[in-house]
Amino acid sequence: VVVWGVAEFDVSDVQMGRRCTVKMRGKLVLIRLRSAAEIATENAVPLAHLRDQETDEERVVNPEWLVVLGICTHLGCVPINNAGEFHGWFCPCHGSHYDVSGRIRKGPAPLNLVVPPYKFTDAAKILIG
Ligand code: FES
Repeated sequence: VVVWGVAEFDVSDVQMGRRCTVKMRGKLVLIRLRSAAEIATENAVPLAHLRDQETDEERVVNPEWLVVLGICTHLGCVPINNAGEFHGWFCPCHGSHYDVSGRIRKGPAPLNLVVPPYKFTDAAKILIG
């Protein structure tokens, strides 16, 4: 059992398409404000194309915001923002590509980036944990 603790982050200055990385109890949390086009793209991905089959809808509380842990599910490296063939994250350690839903699309990682428990305490404040 992993205990994440609880921390609140103000994301009101995150701009569209930009990622913000916050640190919580030594773990990186990747937060991204997604455009309508990006949300539509992720929703249009057929489940059959996914190794770890989760819809985008299942991975978000508010579709505009993606919140995932910055820990590659292969061997735990930190994925790079705004990189990779699917415009989400790229893990340079062994070449895993994640999409804008944090889902694994190519490379050795077996699973999608983990979505931690979180909720919005107002439109621009995210309580993680
Ligand atoms: Fe990320 Fe191996 S640790 S691809």
